Amino acid sequence: MFSDFYTKYEYAKKMLETELEILIHSFEIKHGYTPVEHMKSRLKTMPSIKKKLEEKGYSFTPDNIEKQINDIIGCRIVVSFLSDVYDIVSLISHSPNLIIKERKDYIANPKESGYTSYHIIALVPIYLENRVEYIQAEIQVRTVAMDFWASLDHKIRYKFHESIPEEVQKEMEHYAKDIQELDRKMYHLNQIMSKYQ
Ligand code: GTP
Ligand code: MG
Repeated sequence: MFSDFYTKYEYAKKMLETELEILIHSFEIKHGYTPVEHMKSRLKTMPSIKKKLEEKGYSFTPDNIEKQINDIIGCRIVVSFLSDVYDIVSLISHSPNLIIKERKDYIANPKESGYTSYHIIALVPIYLENRVEYIQAEIQVRTVAMDFWASLDHKIRYKFHESIPEEVQKEMEHYAKDIQELDRKMYHLNQIMSKYQ
């Protein structure tokens, strides 16, 4: 039962990757530059789907997975500059092959932890024998600086679980501000550089 179910997510992940590669490539051809540093997608494993459902208080059934977990397919696009985040978001938003279900701008409104990124929940079509199904995927778009912060934050959370020492938390809040400042400076520098092309 679950292997059939999981296969649909594998198809949708492939569809999404191909769609994003084409969108980004056509952007590169049109604008003559590459905004994306790297892109990576993953499927949540069954044990971690089960764990997430249990934490939310739901039993491990296909129906609950579909309704309660929107990041079984996760895709992260890491870009150079702040402006690239919004260019990529716009590119995805205008794709005729994806439906945007939800967007969260944690750059304009950072999370309490200091986390910043732009999140999109997209519906990805998969073409089955006699019907089209739409599968949810979470796309995270962020700069290299934001990615650096998030990966360190992830390590800290992994090490300390939910009880992160106050001093570590405070340091991370400072760094989040430093990162925002650095992203603004890099964006400014890029604006200056573009005058010389
Ligand atoms: P979920 O129940 O995980 O969906 O949480 P949510 O709905 O409150 O948050 P959201 O969907 O906006 O973000 C989920 C994902 O964003 C996580 O799986 C992480 O990859 C990332 N994320 C969100 N907050 C943080 C944070 O404080 N630190 C780090 N490192 N990543 C975060
Ligand atoms: Mg979520």
